[in-house]
Amino acid sequence: MEALAVAHPNIALVKYWGKRDSALNLPREGSLSLTLAGMESVTHVAFDGAFAADELVLGGNPAPEASLRKARRILDEVRRRAGGRLAALHARVESRNDFPTGAGLASSASGFAALACAAAGAAGLDLSPAELSVLARLGSGSACRSVLGGFVEWKRGERADGTDSHAIAVAPRDHWDVVMLVAVVAEGPKGVSSTEGMERTRRTSPYYEPFLGSIPADLDAARAAVVARDLDALGVVMERNCLRMHAAMLAAEPALIYLRGGSLAVIERVGQLRSAGARAYFTIDAGPNVKVLCERAGADAVESALAAVPGVARVIRALPGGGARVVDPLA
Ligand code: DP6
Repeated sequence: MEALAVAHPNIALVKYWGKRDSALNLPREGSLSLTLAGMESVTHVAFDGAFAADELVLGGNPAPEASLRKARRILDEVRRRAGGRLAALHARVESRNDFPTGAGLASSASGFAALACAAAGAAGLDLSPAELSVLARLGSGSACRSVLGGFVEWKRGERADGTDSHAIAVAPRDHWDVVMLVAVVAEGPKGVSSTEGMERTRRTSPYYEPFLGSIPADLDAARAAVVARDLDALGVVMERNCLRMHAAMLAAEPALIYLRGGSLAVIERVGQLRSAGARAYFTIDAGPNVKVLCERAGADAVESALAAVPGVARVIRALPGGGARVVDPLA
């Protein structure tokens, strides 16, 4: 009983930063993202009576305990749903990312989406996209969005068991010719994980509630802008939503300072490019790298301008990508 699956990272245009239930990764508010092509996590899952315990191997090395715990939430749910003989079997999970080294893109979203997909496939479960998304969410919240391709909304949901908190499609990947440029400012892992950073923001930041209060209107505006392919309208929302999230992070105790000098230099450059007539908008996650959204037509000029900003090591270009899927290991 084994399966192989691939999934891509996604970048939030309206952010998820705050949980109402940390065991199930249920968000306080919804979020909206773009799944990216060109980078992928490839994950193999096997259930076998010969395994004495669940095992997770990341890029050839045993995974840290925290990652194994998260993976186990997905495996336990798959075992519960499958029942029968499978309920008692341990799993071996092997995952690797083919991202350009130090891309500064979260690999947890693509990794757990691929894991959910491969585990369900290995167990012979026939799950709907919504059910797969719920499964991926147990590993990492943002992973529930990587189950789908293109523009994706994660519905906050109302139920305490989380069955209605999952991704839905807003628009397919070919809906809009956009490009996401990742200006890499610093390579290497971030200091404080998203899970811990969110919890610290919730406990200590006076701006946490005001930030969350601004999300429902941002979500409505972003969704409408995506459907209308209105980059300027989407850009205004994604920048203010990102800056409000960072404002809440900066006001936490101890402060969560994910931005670096290079991040601010890129923000400034994007503003200058817009003043000069370019259409490009930034967003930044829990790390220093800046993601800039633009239309394909103007992307070359924006890319070279970003590459020339002092402090930018390189720029990675990504197009809209597809959802998580089981693949043939021999293909
Ligand atoms: C800033 O999904 O990594 O990228 O649910 O605790 O695993 P956990 O957090 P995670 O958080 C992502 C935070 C973000 C914003 C976003 O992707 O929406």
